[in-house]
Amino acid sequence: MNKKIRGSAIAKIVGNNALRHDNIDETVTMYVYEEIIDGKKLTEIINEQHENVKYLPGIKLPPNVVAVPDVVEAAKDADILVFVVPHQFIKTLCSTLLGKIKPTATGLSLIKGFDVAEGGGIDLISHIITKHLRIEVSVLMGANLANEVALEKFCETTIGCKNKRIAPVLRDIIQTDYFRVVVVDDVDAVEVCGALKNIVACGAGFVDGLGLGDNTKAAVIRLGLMEMIKFVDVFYPGSKLSTFFESCGVADLITTCYGGRNRRVSEAFVKTGKTIEELEKEMLNGQKLQGPITAAEVNHMLKNKSMEESFLNFYSCFLYFTAVHRICTREIEPKEMIECIREHPEHMKVRNGFVPGRCSL
Ligand SMILES: NC(=O)c1ccc[n+]([C@@H]2O[C@H](COP(=O)([O-])OP(=O)(O)OC[C@H]3O[C@@H](n4cnc5c(N)ncnc54)[C@H](O)[C@@H]3O)[C@@H](O)[C@H]2O)c1
Repeated sequence: MNKKIRGSAIAKIVGNNALRHDNIDETVTMYVYEEIIDGKKLTEIINEQHENVKYLPGIKLPPNVVAVPDVVEAAKDADILVFVVPHQFIKTLCSTLLGKIKPTATGLSLIKGFDVAEGGGIDLISHIITKHLRIEVSVLMGANLANEVALEKFCETTIGCKNKRIAPVLRDIIQTDYFRVVVVDDVDAVEVCGALKNIVACGAGFVDGLGLGDNTKAAVIRLGLMEMIKFVDVFYPGSKLSTFFESCGVADLITTCYGGRNRRVSEAFVKTGKTIEELEKEMLNGQKLQGPITAAEVNHMLKNKSMEESFLNFYSCFLYFTAVHRICTREIEPKEMIECIREHPEHMKVRNGFVPGRCSL
């Protein structure tokens, strides 16, 4: 079966793979949210210069990647839909696509974040896409800072896919000699890792902004990782601890806490005293910051479940995620972060074997 693929930021990889594999249609259409750059449409610039001059300047896209400003047109007849938009836009995108895509299409989501669910919880973005478009959705997450991937620097990524028939197809469209894929079936845990690491990165940025040093940074990254594991254990039971050792787990956490935009803006947040919104405008050239939004979404759920900093249920609370959220919203000062995590449940445990204390993963 010929595969037609619609992609976005990962279009360079998918475009080159489409040229290599006989079972994939050559043309890869890429939905691009239209913007005017120096008086000209971004889609026209991309299709003439084969370069996304705004979001991926200096990188040539293969000529078979075609930018399309209409998402319905871009997704029409596609067998595989690759979703890569900031997570706040996904519902609108899905409602535009509803009834306009192939019912047999399959999805691959690279979107890192959650959605606030009715009743005080959160939804995974892949579940939102499945619910709205009624298609199966796999996920791709990993230590994949986009500019380094575009420069073809070696890295790994994790695809979470339950469907054994689809998994090799997804690997074929994504894997290159510099972008190595591991496929696991622990889909929800892969996606949750991708979303939560942005919260941890904000805390790492605060530590950098406060000039607290490498030991403190390592400590907050570790506490963040332990809260990620606990979060998955509590809210996505049945997940595997091994998933945290894939690229979507510790590797993405490391790269995000050292190189990512959440860390960078959070450092500036401490040093300049400006708001997240101001810094987003000043520093990100139209890109969005996911960490503070994800922290707010997670906090919304933790608050509803009395799991922010409960002394009644001490071991189930998420002091680090809560502190990051309160700093982002200026409820507390960045310098108060360490006080918030000094009495972390992690420090009250006596280890009994290799598996983290209460975690049953
Ligand atoms: N899985 C991975 O390896 C990986 C790597 C990088 C990014 N991501 C994730 O992909 C998602 C997108 O990240 P990004 O860096 O490409 O984008 P971004 O956060 O930098 O935002 C800019 C993009 O948003 C688009 N946009 C702006 N307004 C829009 C609207 N109203 N509707 C639709 N699109 C709009 C712009 O066209 C542009 O492509 C995020 O969730 C990010 O975390 C995943």
